[in-house]
Amino acid sequence: MKASASAPGKVILVGEHFVVEGSPAIAVAVDVRARATAEAAEGDLVTISSRELGEASFGPGAGGGPLYPVYVAVQEIFKRAGRRAGLRLTIESDIPPGAGMGSSAAVAAAAAAATARLLGLPLSPDEIAQAALAAETIVHGKPSGIDPAVTSYGGAIYFKRGAKPERISADFGRVRLVLADSGIQRSTGALVARVLETKRRHPEVLEPLYKAAANLAEKARSALERGDFATVGELMNINHGMLSALGVSNAKLEELVYAAREAGALGAKITGAGGGGMIVALCWSEDAERVARALSGIAARTIVAPVSEKGATSTLEG
Ligand code: PMV
Repeated sequence: MKASASAPGKVILVGEHFVVEGSPAIAVAVDVRARATAEAAEGDLVTISSRELGEASFGPGAGGGPLYPVYVAVQEIFKRAGRRAGLRLTIESDIPPGAGMGSSAAVAAAAAAATARLLGLPLSPDEIAQAALAAETIVHGKPSGIDPAVTSYGGAIYFKRGAKPERISADFGRVRLVLADSGIQRSTGALVARVLETKRRHPEVLEPLYKAAANLAEKARSALERGDFATVGELMNINHGMLSALGVSNAKLEELVYAAREAGALGAKITGAGGGGMIVALCWSEDAERVARALSGIAARTIVAPVSEKGATSTLEG
């Protein structure tokens, strides 16, 4: 018997960085997915293999290496099931790693969902998110939890640290997200630490900005619920300026953001930690290819993606 699962990547529409200090953020799942298959194996080792990361086996108490976070997510499922099992897990992902699209959370969520399906354990999106969050904690240190929530639930998520993620009811049928990769590698953990350090040095300047970012996220939520994408785009542009004020933009990211706006995007901004990684442009569906073409000459890669209503899903195969 074999179980397979998939989980989507994510794009933060508004509120990254501010979310770390308790402001709300809004993120959407996009139809670029990570997949996992799980099969029962002899003994109690969990062997995880990936084309990019190779293969590693984990027993009770073992740890370390690039595949270890995936094992941590699987272990969370064992805890819930009240038993371990020998497993062979294969993971693969279409989500570019290290670019702010939540690839590690999606891989962990897919692995958790496939394992749970194989063990016959029904899981809620919240439970899958918790397993993925355990894996993210190994990858990022102190993640807000937004990536695990979005990849598990799908759709659009209103996320506030410490509160249950809320699904926003919005119809994304008329819009597309165009993502453009700066090609610059960065570390989310280091950028989060730098922003927090800047805030610590200038609280009287930055606390009002954090308050404004919280107001912005609330307005963006209402605009999404009304289907007012012109306003969502405008708020994304404002949010980009706020992220620049926090010091996480650079010349390449600005070039991409302005090229997207000039090509007709409703709004464009850094998405994720900044410093490199990706920008996101919100576009009417009919404008998306034009915006992507304008970006393709100056970006390391561009992706046109619809919002995915489907979060982590799993099936049992014969
Ligand atoms: O890892 P990324 O690039 O998707 O961005 C993380 C978003 C932050 O708000 C900067 C950090 C967090 O944990 O929410």
